Amino acid sequence: MIQNCTVVKNTTICPGYGRIVISAPEISATALPGQFVMTKYWDGNSPFLLRPFSINAVDRNAGTIEILYKVIGEGTRLLLRLKEGADFLILGPLGNSFPLNPNFSRIGIVGRGVGAAPMRFLAEEAIKQGKDVFVYISASKEEYLFDRRFYQEMGAHFIGSCDPDKMVTSFLEEDLKSNHFDAAYTCGSNRLIRDIKRLMDTYRLEGYASLEAHMACGVGACKGCVCTIFENGEEKYAHVCKDGPVFPIQKLVK
Ligand SMILES: Cc1cc2nc3c(=O)[nH]c(=O)nc-3n(C[C@H](O)[C@H](O)[C@H](O)COP(=O)(O)OP(=O)(O)OC[C@H]3O[C@@H](n4cnc5c(N)ncnc54)[C@H](O)[C@@H]3O)c2cc1C
Ligand code: FES
Repeated sequence: MIQNCTVVKNTTICPGYGRIVISAPEISATALPGQFVMTKYWDGNSPFLLRPFSINAVDRNAGTIEILYKVIGEGTRLLLRLKEGADFLILGPLGNSFPLNPNFSRIGIVGRGVGAAPMRFLAEEAIKQGKDVFVYISASKEEYLFDRRFYQEMGAHFIGSCDPDKMVTSFLEEDLKSNHFDAAYTCGSNRLIRDIKRLMDTYRLEGYASLEAHMACGVGACKGCVCTIFENGEEKYAHVCKDGPVFPIQKLVK
């Protein structure tokens, strides 16, 4: 069901990137890390399709959710212009979530730039559950190491890198050599997903990735977001919106 929500605050973090806080009590009460929302915040039917965004953070006491966004085209340009008090329609929370097994004691979270948007919520939830959380984020510039302050304040070990010659997974690998990690989590990039699969095979840990795909409906009805997964040695089709967006990495890489 689409919910009528309201913008509480919309801030430009750096040119081309923003963070929006939305009053959405029902969504913040039930959302899980890794879930996303389909959004509409303009009058009329242009743009036609709702825009999908990950839930970056929730504040259950305040009844708000946050979205961290990059300005790409028409929809996100309109997003950047929204003022406090503006109407904001949300369909969600949608999709599955990052599994946080109660037996996991140490986890690694890996991401790049704004692609790491869903990871702050995951880290917060894992820390609440008493897990030791290591966050590895890379970006092309220091200012794109989004959420660094939040990770540090919540008590995660934060490793940020802007070194173009070093893959962010290499920092996780350094730590894996001396510590056991139960799971690694990532989102977006196929390159990161493949490299985490390599680490899973070498260091025996579980791995989960959140995928992005162009989405029209967000609920499994339009078949617009199909991806290929591997199950029992066979290739199958899955909907990123309904079967994901989070998948075990062994289902994504052969
Ligand atoms: C599950 C999910 C979570 C996402 N979370 C975030 C987030 O937290 N922060 C963020 O900045 N972006 C996120 N994105 C990407 C975001 O949806 C697009 O950047 C946004 O829809 C672009 O809209 P636009 O009108 O500005 O761009 P346009 O290029 O004008 O959009 C045209 C069409 O393409 C789609 N589209 C364009 N780029 C993407 C993309 N990268 N992924 C999916 N659809 C796209 C649009 O939704 C729209 O239907 C997410 C996408 C998905 C699928
Ligand atoms: S977006 Fe319509 S089926 Fe996934």
